[in-house]
Amino acid sequence: MAKVEYVSIPSMKEARNRVDLCERYVDHVEVPELVKRFAVGKKFYIKTFGCQANIRDEEVMAGYLTMAGFVRTEDPRSADLAIINTCAVRENAEDKVYGEIGSFKINRTNNPQFLLCVCGCMMQEEGKAEFLEKTYPYVSLVFGTHNVHRLLAMLNDVLKKDKNIVNVLSFPGEVVEGLPSVRLNDYEAFVNISYGCDKFCTYCIVPYTRGRERSRKMEDIVAECRTLVEAGYKQITLLGQNVNSYGLDFHDGTTFAKLLAAVAELGIPRLRFLTSYPSQFTDEMIETMAKYDNIQKWLHFPVQSGSSSCLKRMGRRYTREEYLEIVARIRAKMPDIALTTDIIVGFPNETEEEFADTLSLAEEVSYSAAFTFIYSPRGGTPAARLVDGVSDETKHERFMRLVRVIEKTTGAHSAAMVGKTFDVLVEGPSKKNSKILSGYAENGKLINFAGPSYLTGCIIPVKVTESKTYSLRGELAEDPLVSKARDIAYLMSLDPILGESKRLIDALSAPEYRKLGEEYAAAKVALAKSLGNEEEHRLAKERFAAIQTKLRNDPILANESELTGPTKAALNEIKDILQ
Ligand code: 5AD
Ligand code: SF4
Repeated sequence: MAKVEYVSIPSMKEARNRVDLCERYVDHVEVPELVKRFAVGKKFYIKTFGCQANIRDEEVMAGYLTMAGFVRTEDPRSADLAIINTCAVRENAEDKVYGEIGSFKINRTNNPQFLLCVCGCMMQEEGKAEFLEKTYPYVSLVFGTHNVHRLLAMLNDVLKKDKNIVNVLSFPGEVVEGLPSVRLNDYEAFVNISYGCDKFCTYCIVPYTRGRERSRKMEDIVAECRTLVEAGYKQITLLGQNVNSYGLDFHDGTTFAKLLAAVAELGIPRLRFLTSYPSQFTDEMIETMAKYDNIQKWLHFPVQSGSSSCLKRMGRRYTREEYLEIVARIRAKMPDIALTTDIIVGFPNETEEEFADTLSLAEEVSYSAAFTFIYSPRGGTPAARLVDGVSDETKHERFMRLVRVIEKTTGAHSAAMVGKTFDVLVEGPSKKNSKILSGYAENGKLINFAGPSYLTGCIIPVKVTESKTYSLRGELAEDPLVSKARDIAYLMSLDPILGESKRLIDALSAPEYRKLGEEYAAAKVALAKSLGNEEEHRLAKERFAAIQTKLRNDPILANESELTGPTKAALNEIKDILQ
């Protein structure tokens, strides 16, 4: 039996205790010597389940491990260190985790130094860590959502003490800045704006696993986003369990709409956010979304149920009527906005009438997509204690009825896109066929189309040719080289030197410079014509010299030669790449 040290184990009761003060600090990453030595020549692998918050945690863990000297691998069997980042939101997410842990036994058999770590929301549940250590003694380290930034110190402990360690904290949480991270790609990025959730919907485990809601400071978020814009990212997704309550914990008038505007002003081509709590979606938010072209006109707006009585039992703080009223206000200002949602079917004792209300709401709102779930009891949440009179069979049957309604509205939205052209952010070649690319339109719809892989990460126009329920087929609406050149021009405009040269080109095509050019040409002609007439030639020479001086002294034109050098070099490089 492996030795296990329980440094800390979670308690759902403690997780419920909330204090209003939240500690904030900047992490100055130091890699322990032992970890540094261990990492030499070793590979790490991370498998993440669940939502974007977990994906962002993966990026941060990859940042720490890369700093320590580990190299990433996508092949689990060749890993010397593996992390399984778990989700607790529904039972089926948990079942997958056990399968994944089992698959790593062979790594340990083949390599006694192999380390398996399990972290994430599921580890924050009572009893899970102990169960893992008993069932899978080759799990070297168990930690939770609150100590991701202590990863290297915890690995150091495992190596130093030569035993398995369980260190899962149950506390309201803190805000740590200065986290290293290796982002999953260089065109779309997730940025946390707040952590945790204070809503305590009765079915949901998130407030227990991720702690109390705490916002990052606006200046830290804006600085992170600015770095991403300067690095050429095309899309930022601002993340929070409930973005609409962002900043309310500062009690100083900060709102999510203000943050959203500040990030939009940075000029990121596409800006999105997840997830919105309906009743906190303010008019200020609607105004801000409508005002900025770069804020995607797509809103994920989880309703969970279309029945006011069911919503009440779920602990959601709005009624069916209030939800519909907010949707109407949003659509009045942004008629073409795409709305998506989350719906839970089979909440304890959901009646046929309540379910019918969900169906009619889904039809009325006409979502362009929806995530539908069968209710899954989560230990420690209030709903899990309810005695439920609805059979599994009824729940499945209702689920299928709901799916059919969603497919109808989803299909109608997709069909309406056929024949139209959309800007698509290219995600890259599809796994099945490398010649087929896929990407998301502004309304969140996935479009597949044939095209060269160098378009990955570019925003390009694609014409939709065929509609399927969950995806669309399309074709490139312009020469891919032109799309690529536009993308490169955009990236160049972000470069401090090359960007200056773009401004020069823009300036030279401005009317005042065109006039100057015409004057210059006319003066040159006059100079030539005046040859043979001494007085006229003297005057023409003076006029020509004056224009030359004007051109030389112009701050923009004076920089021309300095700027065209690097521009030409970059353009030649691009030509080579494209060839
Ligand atoms: N059972 C089923 N679905 C759930 N969700 C959250 N908790 C549960 C649960 N216990 C769904 C909600 C939420 C989404 C992320 O997961 O719809 O919006
Ligand atoms: Fe869970 Fe409700 Fe918070 Fe969403 S708002 S994370 S459903 S408790």
